Amino acid sequence: MSNIFDNSIKGKVVLVTGASGYIGRNIAHALSSHGANLILVDTNQKKLKDLKISIERNNASVDIICKDLTRKGSIELIKKMIEKKYKKLDILINSIGFVGTSKMKGWNTGFKNQSKQAWDCSIETNMTSVFFLIQALHVLMKKSESASIVNISSMYGEYAPDKKIYEGTKINNPAAYSVAKAGLNHMTKWLAVELGPKIRVNAISPGGLFRNQDKMFVKKYAEKTLLKRMATEDDIIGPIIFFASDMSKYITGQNLIVDGGWGT
Ligand SMILES: NC(=O)c1ccc[n+]([C@@H]2O[C@H](COP(=O)([O-])OP(=O)(O)OC[C@H]3O[C@@H](n4cnc5c(N)ncnc54)[C@H](O)[C@@H]3O)[C@@H](O)[C@H]2O)c1
Repeated sequence: MSNIFDNSIKGKVVLVTGASGYIGRNIAHALSSHGANLILVDTNQKKLKDLKISIERNNASVDIICKDLTRKGSIELIKKMIEKKYKKLDILINSIGFVGTSKMKGWNTGFKNQSKQAWDCSIETNMTSVFFLIQALHVLMKKSESASIVNISSMYGEYAPDKKIYEGTKINNPAAYSVAKAGLNHMTKWLAVELGPKIRVNAISPGGLFRNQDKMFVKKYAEKTLLKRMATEDDIIGPIIFFASDMSKYITGQNLIVDGGWGT
């Protein structure tokens, strides 16, 4: 039996989107410590540069691309860069997100005030951009011997929110977030059918991550989980590496909900 634990990430070419974000940069660090060749994409240039410096301290290979993934031109440029340098792509981790912290008007608000602009931005960023990136890059992934795509979704793509945990806080749960993530979950299955057997496609659906939110929210949220706490980045990285690597080589079209038992 081959040793699936030692070499499943080492030397692989890995693209991480949303790499400047909380989850994206933790994924990047974890993959670099396992010997991956990284290509990191985000719109936040300063954070991308800082990330590159901190990863290169560990002698890892990393390219950064500061581009907006909702634009077709950005996707073409990323494809050309990977084609030129590596000729193939082994692993794609989509951690791009239009998330609750965005200040866009009509986003973090109640039903009546949710705007068309925020709705479109969520669908475009959380769902549509992922589809067209995969459409462009799957040709390069077909050249890999162990191609894997991991879409970072959300438990809210699966579950309806519990309004009680938001009462008395400034936190909301906009419909367009859940709708986009539900679409991403279905897209994961659709693409697993389309891209198999050469490319596996799976999703990870994290529960809420602790980010010093309103104390009352954190307390009520934690009480709803079986593990009595919100998630941390560390809780999410293991499942991502599992889906990215050959450890999950007979799994495709799945959505792993990493929610501490919130939805049990
Ligand atoms: N934070 C949570 O509680 C939580 C829970 C479940 C799922 N998720 C999901 O995990 C993923 C990462 O979330 P996070 O908490 O790290 O959020 P984050 O906001 O820290 O990271 C998202 C990153 O995506 C980048 N981005 C946004 N639009 C982009 C675009 N058009 N082109 C390129 N980059 C763009 C942002 O600059 C940001 O760095 C998201 O898909 C999010 O929906 C987060």
